[in-house]
Order: sequence, then C-alpha cells, then structure tokens
Amino acid sequence: MKTAKVALFGLGTIGTGVAKILLQHANQIAHATGQPVELAKICDKDITTQRDLNLPPGLLTNDPDAIFSDPNISVAIELIGGLEPARSFVLRLLENGKNVITANKALLASHGAELFDAARKYKRTIAFEASVCGGIPILNALSTALQANTVQSINAIVNGTSNFILSKMENGKISYRDAVAQAQKLGYAEADPAMDVDGTDAVQKLTILAQLGFGAVVDWKAIPRIGIESVDALDFLYAKELGYRIKLLAVAVQSDGGLELHVSPTLVKADNPIARVQDAYNAVRIVGDSVGPVFFQGLGAGQLPTASAVVGDLIDTVLGRTAITFGALNLWNSGNSLIPIKSPAEFFGKSYLRLNVVDRPGVMCELSGILGKRNISIASMIQHEPVCETSGDSAVLFLTTHEVREGDLVQAILELEESSVVLGSIVRMRVQS
Ligand code: HSE
Repeated sequence: MKTAKVALFGLGTIGTGVAKILLQHANQIAHATGQPVELAKICDKDITTQRDLNLPPGLLTNDPDAIFSDPNISVAIELIGGLEPARSFVLRLLENGKNVITANKALLASHGAELFDAARKYKRTIAFEASVCGGIPILNALSTALQANTVQSINAIVNGTSNFILSKMENGKISYRDAVAQAQKLGYAEADPAMDVDGTDAVQKLTILAQLGFGAVVDWKAIPRIGIESVDALDFLYAKELGYRIKLLAVAVQSDGGLELHVSPTLVKADNPIARVQDAYNAVRIVGDSVGPVFFQGLGAGQLPTASAVVGDLIDTVLGRTAITFGALNLWNSGNSLIPIKSPAEFFGKSYLRLNVVDRPGVMCELSGILGKRNISIASMIQHEPVCETSGDSAVLFLTTHEVREGDLVQAILELEESSVVLGSIVRMRVQS
C-alpha cells in the first residue's frame, strides 16, 4: 500500500504537537485516510534544542531544499508563522507539486490571493483550518455543511489571549496590567502581547472568516480595529450595571447589500451565549438564512487543539476531500471580492463611551449639544457621585448611544476630545443587543 509522506516546517509548540499526534495516532490516522501517513522530514532552523518528543533519527533538518526537492513528499505543513520565509516556502512547495497545510493567518490575510492563485496554477491545494480559532472546525463548517446558506452574520471571539485577559479583569476585578501579567505567567500571552491585545490577530482571522463566509476579499489593515488596551476595570462595573459583559468581538455582518467588518471590545448582553465564553476559549456564532444561528466554542490556541486542526487538514488532504472543496470554493478568486465592503463611516450601531469630564455646571449641556448636532441620541448615561470630596474637579461619565452612523460618532468624539469639557481621550466600545 502506498504511504503518504509528509514534511513539517517549524518544530515549535504547534509543530511538536503535530509530530506527537502523527507519531502517537499513526494507526488511527492510517484508518481515517486508508493508507499509512508518515512524517518523513521536519525542517527547523534550530536542530539542536531538545524537544519534548521522541523523533525517529534522521528526520530533522535545517535545509528546506531537502523537502522542496524530495519527490516522495506529497504534503507539507507550514508552521513557521510570519510572512517570510513562510510565503516563499509555500510558493516553492506548490511549485514543487506538494499540497500545503498552514496555520498562518497573517500569511493568508496578507497573501491569500497570491497563494491560492499559485495553488490553482500548480493544481495543488492549501488547507488552513488551524489559522482561525485553533481547534474549532469553523472553516470546515463554512466550507461544507453550511454551504446551503447565505451567511448573514458572523460574531466571534477569535483571540484567546484577549478573552483570557478580559475574563480575569471581570471575574477577578483586577486591572488590565495585572491581567496581562497573569496571562503571561500562565503562558496565554507572549512576552510582547501587542498583536493579540491590539486586535491585529483578530482582524487577520476575520479576513479569513469573511472570505469563507461571504467571498469577501479585504485588506486586513483596512478593517476598523479597537484593541482591549484601554478597557478599564471600571468599564466592567458599568457594563454590568447596564446588563452587559465585555468581549473582544470580530464581526462580519451583511447590511444593505454590503459587508460591515470590524473588531472592537463590545458590550454584549449578559445572557447572550457569546458573553458567557470565558478564559482562553474562542467562540463563533454564525447566522445563516436557512440554518438560523449556530454556535461553536472551543480552544483557539495551544499545542494540541491547534495540532488537532492541522492533522484534521492532513487527513482531508491525503484522503482527497480537500481537493474537492478547494476546487469548488475557488477561494480568494484572483483578489475579486464577491461582496462590496462597506466604508466604516457608513456603519450603523450602538456605542459605549467613557469620558473623563470637567465637573462643573453646564458640562452635560455642552456634551449633549455636540452629540445632538450630529444626530447622536443618548440611550443611557451614568455618573456616580465621587466617593469623597477630594476626588477633584473631574468626573467619569459612562454613556451608551442609540444606533448612530459611525462617521458621525467619530467626528463627535474628535470634537468632544478637543472641547474644554472633556479631559484626555474618550474610550469607545461597541454595544450589541
Ligand atoms: N494568539 C492567538 C490567541 C492564538 O490568543 O488566540 C494564535 O492565533
């Protein structure tokens, strides 16, 4: 019986997980694919560090050509991350007749059209389940079982690090800084967590979800993004007072023939299932016109959950399932979007604002004047009495708006920040009912 020979680029945390599953579940994988699947080569620039893994001798190399030029290798898994050399490696693999599996959301968000065009040119496939929400089979669901639907909306928690930090702030009543430190100590956040907390990771994943769900081709840098860095312990108290929890949501929603895409900390009604997703878990809620709402939850990061998605892709690739869906879906279709992407200024929605204002008569009047002239209607406003007389001459105001046009709100925030009544920057989040 023919053996499928597989190569792996990158023996970091996820690569080690993939190697573990391939070695430990070899019989189960052979059963699922109908043929033995052999991990034939692993390429990593570091071939000296001892890993938590018993690799057969001769597997590890630091020479990528040993994989590109090996005609017996039919599938390669790219887990090196980042844009280069990952992009060049994937192109070389396709050119050399190998199907590719990747977990690299940054690569797909930036070079999806180029890589998928190359795969079509060389009649190969790219599978990428692990690039969004790790172990949750969300791309598979969108590509197969949900194909009967016109997707109306996707609301998702796609960044486990941010969800962990927000959960700890809310439940432990601790500051953002302390929550980040806890996430780093437990291995949920990198030493530099910037890409997770500033929403970059989330918009890159949203770009991929929007391609699968809506055929949207969008530059991830153009998606409006607010990170969680400005969320304060106080926001959770006031959100709770209003019946909400705070989640970093990636949203894609069809309205008036166009697609709204954004990532932002969002006040979500406390009884919404997505509001109850805690710690490092991810979740995706999709509404399809036939199926209605469906909800997925699971671990979006970590060694074995992510490796589970990679090996699932490998099984599909070896079995030939990937080739069928890959051909039918025609993803990233030469960079053409199948749906218009709406300009952020034209989005409509509710927002939450936290403002530090001067505590003197007439401030509310000035504030509501700036909002009112742009047709921004206040839905709720909270100002509590200072805890003591020495609290100073400023007050913190929390307000939510009714549905407003984004362009008007952005202008109003700028004008408020320049006015003499607002001190410092305004913190803004979206509100979902
Ligand atoms: N850093 C990501 C997260 C996982 O925290 O969800 C990898 O995409």
